[in-house]
Amino acid sequence: MSVKRVTFASKIGVVAAAAGSAVGLGNIWRFPSQTADGGGAIFILVYIGCILFFGIPLMVSEFLVGRASRANAAGAYHKLSPGTPWKWVGRLGVLTGFVIMGFYMVVCGWTLVYLIQSLSGHLSGVTDFAANFAVLQGDPVKQTVWMILFTLLTTFFILSGVKKGIEQSAKILMPLLFLLLIVLAVRAVTLDGALPGINFLLKPDLSHVKSTLFLDAMGQAFFSLSLGMGCMITYGSYFRDRTPLLKTSVQVAVLDTLVAVLAGMVIFPSAFALTAHPETIVSDLVAGGPGLLFITLPELFNQMPGSMIWSTLFFCLLALAALTSTISLMEVVTVYIHEEYHIPRRISALFVTAGIIILGVFSSLSAPFFNILDIASAKFMLPIGGLFISLFVGWHLDRRLIFVQLSSGGTLKPGILFMKTYIFLLRYVAPIAILAIFIYGLAW
Ligand code: PFF
Repeated sequence: MSVKRVTFASKIGVVAAAAGSAVGLGNIWRFPSQTADGGGAIFILVYIGCILFFGIPLMVSEFLVGRASRANAAGAYHKLSPGTPWKWVGRLGVLTGFVIMGFYMVVCGWTLVYLIQSLSGHLSGVTDFAANFAVLQGDPVKQTVWMILFTLLTTFFILSGVKKGIEQSAKILMPLLFLLLIVLAVRAVTLDGALPGINFLLKPDLSHVKSTLFLDAMGQAFFSLSLGMGCMITYGSYFRDRTPLLKTSVQVAVLDTLVAVLAGMVIFPSAFALTAHPETIVSDLVAGGPGLLFITLPELFNQMPGSMIWSTLFFCLLALAALTSTISLMEVVTVYIHEEYHIPRRISALFVTAGIIILGVFSSLSAPFFNILDIASAKFMLPIGGLFISLFVGWHLDRRLIFVQLSSGGTLKPGILFMKTYIFLLRYVAPIAILAIFIYGLAW
């Protein structure tokens, strides 16, 4: 069956949509807690290495596979390599998207709760922010209700279609979020006592290195760039023929990394400056885990004049950044069901919504279940998906097809050196490194 496919309407829309998928809770919630756990600057260094050596080449590869096939994550493999087991890689990706949504939506619900607490003035009256977060975590009903609301909001956008739903929202929200983070970072680094927090982020301290450092950083890189599950394949399938794939990937990766580092620049200086117990701050940070953002930031806002306005604006933008990511996650699964099983898009979206809500209820009820979904997807499923996409493009795909895609239908001329480096990274560097990190990480 030939399915008529839409494409993104403008150049900036393409970057905004892809960056909208990449920038989300992964940058602002997950990155700081992983950085705290991974020992600060050393984690960031390894993370940036992962972005350069796997992130960008794999993003180009996903875009390329998507645009060449103009199909969903599993259909893409099937179209480019019919009758082979490669489609299972795509199916694994779709499953991964589902697993991620199962816990991600819960955190999205938390952002809504904090948005309401900001708007109602509740947050500016809180004195113990750790206790405030613990109350939320101890209330599964509240978490479930807000998780469901966020899921339905995402469904609404999925139902309103690719152009209107995804592209337009991302175009407006991304720059706003960026601006606000800069303002907050300036405030945080100028707090009295912020310096040790800045050092924690910038000066590598080898005494905090963990044996799973590489696995954690790699998983975070995949998660943050939305790689390894066919999300960028799906978005690549909506790209126009002339969209430059390398340039778009570099722009998305740079934006995504900037947002993550900026979020770190807000959270760590604030956490160090505002703590009542500087001697235990590092262990507190590590123990803070998922709550770090929701504990440290409101505390920072309360140090600022007009705290209610700042925290409302921040949680509103955070929810919106999360929304552009959940839209991309839900799109992967919806369009897969729609195209592969010939089920109308609307019905597919409703199936997916029901499935997410079921998983989300379990994650709201059980922190260990939440953690299992988080770890299974970021540290196992996404890197495995990334490994296979590098093998697929590096070893299996026809070089001429790769060349046509990288030259964007003849409008660009990728040099021979570039092509060789790209293929070398995909054939050898990415798969060997991903495997090695994986085995090493698991051995501990
Ligand atoms: N990249 C998103 C974030 O950092 O929040 C999460 C995500 C979206 C992961 C889409 C994977 C994906 F396909």
